Amino acid sequence: MCADGLRLFVAADIPREIRKAVAGVIEPLKARVPGGRWVKPENLHITLKFIGEYEKEALERLSNHILAATRKSVPFVVCLGDCGAFPSPARARVLWVGMTEGGEEAAVLARRLDARLERAGVRREGREYRGHLTLARLKNPVDCRMLMEELAHGMRDLGGMPFRVEVITLYRSVLGPSGPTYTPLREFVLGGGEGEKD
Ligand code: 2AM
Repeated sequence: MCADGLRLFVAADIPREIRKAVAGVIEPLKARVPGGRWVKPENLHITLKFIGEYEKEALERLSNHILAATRKSVPFVVCLGDCGAFPSPARARVLWVGMTEGGEEAAVLARRLDARLERAGVRREGREYRGHLTLARLKNPVDCRMLMEELAHGMRDLGGMPFRVEVITLYRSVLGPSGPTYTPLREFVLGGGEGEKD
């Protein structure tokens, strides 16, 4: 970690009522995943770009590049659904919910951020972007095939819950013993400008 570094990422928020609904679906499944670290409902988000440690003094420069990427983008609708696990349901390390709508728009935005932030000194992604909402991280690989079916069933019952992504947020992440704390630093309106948080 650099001395004055902040751990940062850019994400699309999920509306509170949808986070609550997703939390309701995953609650009964939690006990079935040994060693699962479940994301707190308030922390559920769609990461668009993980920045990592970044110099505090250079935040303005970073923001200008995020602004340039978001100005070119337009709001889009997301429908959640389409559950999965990385690297595979049979050896799951990460459980996630994907998008049945809005995935391509999110990927375009993520690629735009990725390309633009390289100019701000952020390392480019090695892998293709696959937008998702991380639900849980597992220390050791677990066979989650049965669970994935139940998760998919629960998500289907929620009916996709469409919502509009109009703003994306630059977050600071502080890692702690009881999990990470995410603090919004700045918001960027898709197709528009920037709004300072607080
Ligand atoms: P996720 O999108 O799969 O949940 C903050 O850490 C966010 O950035 C998390 O939501 C996390 O993953 C995402 N992220 C992407 N790459 C990461 C990395 N190398 N280290 C930590 N978090 C990363």
